[in-house]
Amino acid sequence: MNVAFISSEAVPFAKTGGLADVSGSLPHQLARLGCKVKLIIPKYDILNLEKYDLEKVNFDSPVSVSAGEKKYDINVFSCIDCDSKVEIYFIEQNELFNRGKIYTEDKDEDIRFIVFQKAAIETLQHLNWAPDIIHCNDWQTGLIPLYIKFNYSWDKLFRKTATLFTIHNIGYQGLFPASTLFKAEIPQELFYPMAPAEFYGQVSFLKAGITLADSVNTVSRTYAQELLSPEFGGGMEGVLAERQDDFTGIVNGVDYDIWSPEKDKMIPHNYSADDLSGKLENKKYLLNQLGMPFQKEIPLMGMVSRIVSQKGFDILARAVKYLVQLNAQWVILGTGDKKYENKLIRIAKLYPNHLKVNLYYNEELAHLIEAASDIFIMPSLYEPCGLNQIYSLKYGSVPVVRKTGGLADTVHDWDANIQNESGNGFVFENYNGYDLYASVKRAVNCFNDKDLWKKIQLNGMKQDYSWQSSAKKYLELYKNALINKVT
Ligand code: ADP
Ligand code: GLC
Repeated sequence: MNVAFISSEAVPFAKTGGLADVSGSLPHQLARLGCKVKLIIPKYDILNLEKYDLEKVNFDSPVSVSAGEKKYDINVFSCIDCDSKVEIYFIEQNELFNRGKIYTEDKDEDIRFIVFQKAAIETLQHLNWAPDIIHCNDWQTGLIPLYIKFNYSWDKLFRKTATLFTIHNIGYQGLFPASTLFKAEIPQELFYPMAPAEFYGQVSFLKAGITLADSVNTVSRTYAQELLSPEFGGGMEGVLAERQDDFTGIVNGVDYDIWSPEKDKMIPHNYSADDLSGKLENKKYLLNQLGMPFQKEIPLMGMVSRIVSQKGFDILARAVKYLVQLNAQWVILGTGDKKYENKLIRIAKLYPNHLKVNLYYNEELAHLIEAASDIFIMPSLYEPCGLNQIYSLKYGSVPVVRKTGGLADTVHDWDANIQNESGNGFVFENYNGYDLYASVKRAVNCFNDKDLWKKIQLNGMKQDYSWQSSAKKYLELYKNALINKVT
């Protein structure tokens, strides 16, 4: 099966969050299952190209795409992943993608991703390569199903091509004023109240993806159910309900070559379930680096997260003053909303030995916190899948999570499962600071019972969230999308 996997970010090249982890790992597993995969991403100026040499692709004719009245010349670069043979294509348009970051709040954000999407399709045309599936991810690729069905329907190359749209986060909808219709060259017939590209008078790239892709999915089973309710659906619940027959949830896998304590290249001390001593060494190393006292008997709480309300920073901000007074140390890494950042900094100044806040993006520190922490905190308001709790399970860093989305599917409360001893973390349900505090306290109390703690750690470490089973489910979904295309 030929799969074009299109994404606005992918590890190791460009990352703001979990979408990059998924786009950097699922294509490789699909290739291992026999698919021919081409991954297409923008060529940002901030690409990490450490291990890859890019070559300019020479086409017979130049690639140029329009957005409204303006034409944009495109260069395409490529490289190949030697292990999996996935080919990676990079869309170069310096005026649009050289902004020092992946996403912007600039007023041409719509144009940046209109051009990316059209250029991705035109790259396939110039390569004369017919994908069976175009796998689109989040709003930045939501117009592709529309383009394939309408704007490029003349091209026989895509006669058999089906599209899959994966929702990684309903909170980001690619909403733009009605004038974007013209820039995107969306057919007028798709823009009237309730039409595929219209969302309360605005253009929504996300809605176009949901309504016009041949199949739609999201990244965990529970989030797929949640999305059908007004509480979680972000206004798209009705649109999703109409697609209910083709809408499923597949939990994300992870790449254990990058994210496991045995193989992690970014931590000073590797370790495994058989011998956890390296974990303690990592804790010592991290605390030392951050200028905090090392106290073996006191649990280290880790957080690596975008600092936004989705991730539970409302309730964390409310509870943090009390949390830091528990007998524990906290290390937080993340960037985001100033109002939460400032609150955390204020508390960290009052309790320097108990809380260290690192307000930046740093891959190595993210790995080190996973490896060094005893307890990992994710109190999300909503969480489509969440990868850090899955990493935490493997690193023996027992997760404390709110019961929502992928967190509910992957973390099982110790106390609730005490009979069969299958708990791998601590789970709370109600979104408030008190319940967060109470579950953290439960975890801290259990930490003092060394045998019990080890049991909970090992329950998590033995779980397998590698892509093997989820990638097979994607293959099934691709087959369904192909059936939907012809029926
Ligand atoms: P989301 O995609 O919603 O941000 P996920 O849990 O799916 O949440 O994935 C987040 C990914 O981004 C993880 O790989 C995490 O380690 C990484 N990450 C988040 N913030 C930072 C940061 N400040 N520095 C380094 N990595 C980060
Ligand atoms: C989104 C979600 C996160 C998910 C990731 C990858 O960013 O917020 O929960 O793990 O996408 O699918």
